[in-house]
Amino acid sequence: MGVIRYILLTLGAVSAVFSTDTGNEEKLKTCLQYALTDSGRVAFAGDPFYQVADVKRYNLNIPVTPAAVTFPTSSHQVAAIVKCAADNGYHVQAKSGGHSYANYCLGGTDGAVVVDLKNLQQFSMDNTNWHATIGGGTLLGDVTQRLHDAGGRAMSHGTCPQVGSGGHFTIGGLGPTSRQFGAALDHIVEAEVVLANSSIIRASDTENADVFWAIKGAASGFGIVTEFTVRTEPEPGTAVKYEYTFKIGSTEGRAKLFKQWQAYISNPQLTRKLASTLTLLEDTLIITGTFFGTEEEYKALDIGSQFPGTNGSAVVFQDWLGLVGNWAEEAALELGGGIAANFYAKSNAWTPKNLMSNETIDQLFKYIDNTDKGTLIWFLLFDFQGGYTNDIPADATAYAHRDVLLWLQSYSINLLGEVTQTQIDFLDRVNEMITPQDHPYAAYPGYVDPLMPNGAEAYWGSNLARLRQIKSDIDPENVFRNPQSPSPAL
Ligand SMILES: Cc1cc2nc3c(=O)[nH]c(=O)nc-3n(C[C@H](O)[C@H](O)[C@H](O)COP(=O)(O)OP(=O)(O)OC[C@H]3O[C@@H](n4cnc5c(N)ncnc54)[C@H](O)[C@@H]3O)c2cc1C
Ligand SMILES: *[C@@H]1O[C@H](CO)[C@@H](O)[C@H](O)[C@H]1NC(C)=O
Ligand SMILES: *[C@@H]1O[C@H](CO)[C@@H](O)[C@H](O)[C@H]1NC(C)=O
Ligand SMILES: *[C@@H]1O[C@H](CO)[C@@H](O)[C@H](O)[C@H]1NC(C)=O
Repeated sequence: MGVIRYILLTLGAVSAVFSTDTGNEEKLKTCLQYALTDSGRVAFAGDPFYQVADVKRYNLNIPVTPAAVTFPTSSHQVAAIVKCAADNGYHVQAKSGGHSYANYCLGGTDGAVVVDLKNLQQFSMDNTNWHATIGGGTLLGDVTQRLHDAGGRAMSHGTCPQVGSGGHFTIGGLGPTSRQFGAALDHIVEAEVVLANSSIIRASDTENADVFWAIKGAASGFGIVTEFTVRTEPEPGTAVKYEYTFKIGSTEGRAKLFKQWQAYISNPQLTRKLASTLTLLEDTLIITGTFFGTEEEYKALDIGSQFPGTNGSAVVFQDWLGLVGNWAEEAALELGGGIAANFYAKSNAWTPKNLMSNETIDQLFKYIDNTDKGTLIWFLLFDFQGGYTNDIPADATAYAHRDVLLWLQSYSINLLGEVTQTQIDFLDRVNEMITPQDHPYAAYPGYVDPLMPNGAEAYWGSNLARLRQIKSDIDPENVFRNPQSPSPAL
């Protein structure tokens, strides 16, 4: 009798533990199915074709299995989904374009509830002030087209059309017009946000100002932006796209060209109408960019004389869509654009005060030319920033890097399978070699680097303390999180 009772009790205890676990999972499923009864859709881990049809990782090198991927059709459904997740102890991440380098839109770790915003495509233009309202699932290519169709308007953003406004406008959003008009997030004047307690709020400088501040640079840890209202500018008119190529060449020759380019872009008098990127590939150094002005003005800049020994070319664009389309082709060449792959990426930053010395540049080029990189498909992309983006004080938005003149994005891709240690070591060593010594390490929050130990400090720098305070006010249970989002202040 005692033994039987013991067995029954034990079974009871086991089934009790079992049922709380599956109980939550079952409760989550029931809750999400109910939330999405009228429209929308939900897929669960274990469903057929879940990974390829619903999860769709961008970085194949980083495996992750969310508990559920939801496809809501309204902010009310987004709020209901967040409530289902929070009530049952699941963490949440929004997905817009799905182009996070570390799959953070899928939670970044297993078991998240993903809110895929692809159905949130609302768009309208207020012709009195040229403010546009844009659904949080809109891809950049559609943003460009819709702003164009609504009166020839434009805003700053990056060059890859498959990137989503949700992840891009809330993390920075740097593009060729940023020196003139600011980062994408500098265009946001208001947003609709779903918070951790599942309330739907409007946020602006005058309403829920703390939330507004946090989503302009760090939204993934603070809520889900379902709709943006942005200021726009008239489409830039004539523009010239230039390219100076230096094939192979000696180590010294390429180092010299880099020094000349760095000296050129660090002239504070240089026009904001000029964008410039220096790309280093296996056998080529390329200086590319756009000048927003006429061919005559471009010729007057006489850029070619700055980079002797290179092969230069320039193409004049009269229409904005043609120019943006051309950038897209370039972005596609660089990182496969919309195509998922196995890759590793890092970023680094310099202010006008801590640019690389000539010795460091020499050391970098020597290292590159004498190192096994584990692949032929690697590149270092140096982007000239500054201008309008840096007119804004560092504490005005969560995006903190208002002093950066030069960004580096470094990538290493493996088309054959997992990224190797040799590939990782190469980018890590490059990064160590060139990191400014006198400055806390700064990384761009849009180029997620999951191996970086102090991610939140590197991404949000001097704004991290305030972010953690706001986090503890509006999301103390850390419902919205990925492995590097700000944790609540204690
Ligand atoms: C090919 C390529 C080119 C790029 N070019 C540029 C460039 O030129 N300039 C530049 O600045 N960056 C560039 N990036 C980086 C890009 O801006 C970031 O990866 C960005 O976060 C991607 O946004 P997404 O919506 O596509 O990504 P997602 O993976 O959907 O989201 C990224 C992060 O943002 C969060 N998020 C998404 N939507 C929302 C929302 N509505 N509310 C709250 N949080 C949300 C997600 O939870 C996730 O943590 C590029 C990236 C790629 C892959
Ligand atoms: C410039 O182009 C010519 C002809 O294609 C080529 O032979 C030469 O190597 C190029 N020079 C540089 C510096 O890339
Ligand atoms: C660095 O190199 C450039 C180009 O070779 C040169 O013009 C400049 O004077 C050098 N700077 C210093 C500080 O030596
Ligand atoms: C939800 O959280 C926000 C921010 O903390 C707060 O202002 C609001 O009152 C909360 N709503 C509810 C219904 O608790």
